[in-house]
Amino acid sequence: MNPRSVVVTGAGRGIGRAITLELAHAGFDVIGTVRSEDRGEALRAEVAGTGAAVRTVLLDVADPTSCVQAFTRIAGMTGGGPWAVVNNAGFAQPGAVEDVDDEQVRQQLETNLVAPARIARLVLPAMRDRRAGRIVNVSSIAGRVSLPMLGWYCASKRGLESVTDALRMETEPFGVKVSLVEPGSYGTGIWEAGADLLPDEHASAYGDQYAAAGEVLRGVRNLPGPRPVAQAVHKALTARRPQPRYLVGGGARSTAVLDAVAPTAASDRVKQLATGLRTAPPRVTRALARLRGR
Ligand SMILES: NC(=O)c1ccc[n+]([C@@H]2O[C@H](COP(=O)([O-])OP(=O)(O)OC[C@H]3O[C@@H](n4cnc5c(N)ncnc54)[C@H](OP(=O)(O)O)[C@@H]3O)[C@@H](O)[C@H]2O)c1
Repeated sequence: MNPRSVVVTGAGRGIGRAITLELAHAGFDVIGTVRSEDRGEALRAEVAGTGAAVRTVLLDVADPTSCVQAFTRIAGMTGGGPWAVVNNAGFAQPGAVEDVDDEQVRQQLETNLVAPARIARLVLPAMRDRRAGRIVNVSSIAGRVSLPMLGWYCASKRGLESVTDALRMETEPFGVKVSLVEPGSYGTGIWEAGADLLPDEHASAYGDQYAAAGEVLRGVRNLPGPRPVAQAVHKALTARRPQPRYLVGGGARSTAVLDAVAPTAASDRVKQLATGLRTAPPRVTRALARLRGR
């Protein structure tokens, strides 16, 4: 086993791509998983263009057979199994709880919650035998703070945090270190893709919110790039004593603090205002307009 071999799931785009570049340049033997040959070829070419290297393997994390096949192949490529895994692949299913059907719920939980646990089961026997290994699960500030219109995404990440906390305690005596990375919002394809998954605004009691949310999600252009998330993953892999949690970004840190200290009724109100479920009282709207006019 190469002591620096790391599997990154969902490596072809967004945060996974940033993690792949960060780790490949830090000298790790990165195996990036992708869902298509084309994406793999593009990733290998892009990393090679920057003077580093990555190997790729096909994997759909939501498909148990694909997971077994991919990790059998990876065991062959790494001499018995990778030293570390970064469970990054994921997506955000938006919609009011009333509008998201069972199949969409299953796909959300399968991808963001069940798959990282399944992958842990596939890599842990070799990690325990070697008494060395690391697992980094990419969660979100949404794993700590629930938001309306993203209830199932938040549930998937909250569940991932619970399972990861248990896993960390269970595997520590075997020398396997487990961390969570909890990013705030970063500019990747996840929000535009989420807009395409919004329920039909014409067939929903929440149609007005969906129309507004669709506009916001499709217009998300000013978010920072995902490199800070990749740097946090790098820290989780290289720290002698990795932290259980890495909150990434000022927005995520302030949201976590505010949500923990504010009374629930107050934080509910702020989240409802932010998602258009409530409108601000006229005097607040007037005060905001005055501020904007300055
Ligand atoms: N961006 C943010 O603001 C943010 C904030 C907090 C947490 N996160 C988390 O960060 C992770 C990466 O998100 P991102 O922002 O980079 O999103 P993204 O740009 O949409 O990329 C998602 C990645 O996951 C892969 N993926 C999705 N479903 C998959 C499946 N069933 N099997 C294998 N791969 C799958 C995609 O592969 P394809 O290319 O094949 O579609 C893609 O590589 C997610 O877990 C997300 O929840 C993101």
